[in-house]
Amino acid sequence: RRIAVLASGRGSNLQVLIDAIAAGRLNATIAGVFSDRPKAGALERARHASIPTTSLRPRDFDSRAAFDDALFSHVDTVQPDLIVCAGYMRLLSEHVVEARQGHMINIHPSLLPAFKGLHTHQQALAAGVREHGASVHFVTSELDGGPVIAQARVPVLDGDDADALAARVLTREHPLLLATVKVLAEGRVRLRDGTVTLDDRPL
Ligand code: GRF
Repeated sequence: RRIAVLASGRGSNLQVLIDAIAAGRLNATIAGVFSDRPKAGALERARHASIPTTSLRPRDFDSRAAFDDALFSHVDTVQPDLIVCAGYMRLLSEHVVEARQGHMINIHPSLLPAFKGLHTHQQALAAGVREHGASVHFVTSELDGGPVIAQARVPVLDGDDADALAARVLTREHPLLLATVKVLAEGRVRLRDGTVTLDDRPL
């Protein structure tokens, strides 16, 4: 299977996929890494692994739609079976998402549907929850609102600040993303009529 990864930041989730492929633990190819931030660490990690990269700057485009059309025309050239948003921090236009439903996933650092959007660890601390985590979901036009495929949970501990909580979540995000990409690459998980199926049964 061919994977395209979209990333805006340091790229530790991307690295997990790169390492798993190199170690023979994930039968897939990362066909390209795409970013809205030319300085993203993720691009450096991709180049190091000899993966083609593309980065475009939103400010060079007149609108969100124009930027997304340009970025996704590059994504399309690598003919991905699966598009993984791994710390991609930009809202996607509806038409771009809708055309790729069932083929695009996102990792989000909260137990969705709780704490959508940004600053999820601060949101969790402010809400006083005792459990937090990460979710991988199919991308739909509702921000962080698409059908959830899998989640990983961590406790919130006394004395946690947002950084401590983020670090604990990240250790679970990495295996969660890998496990999810694996079942997707094997064709075992699908989105059918808005429902996630595993081995053809609703999750
Ligand atoms: C992760 O916490 C991801 O869930 C969030 O941004 C962070 C990206 O980390 N949306 P990295 O760039 O993969 O290291």
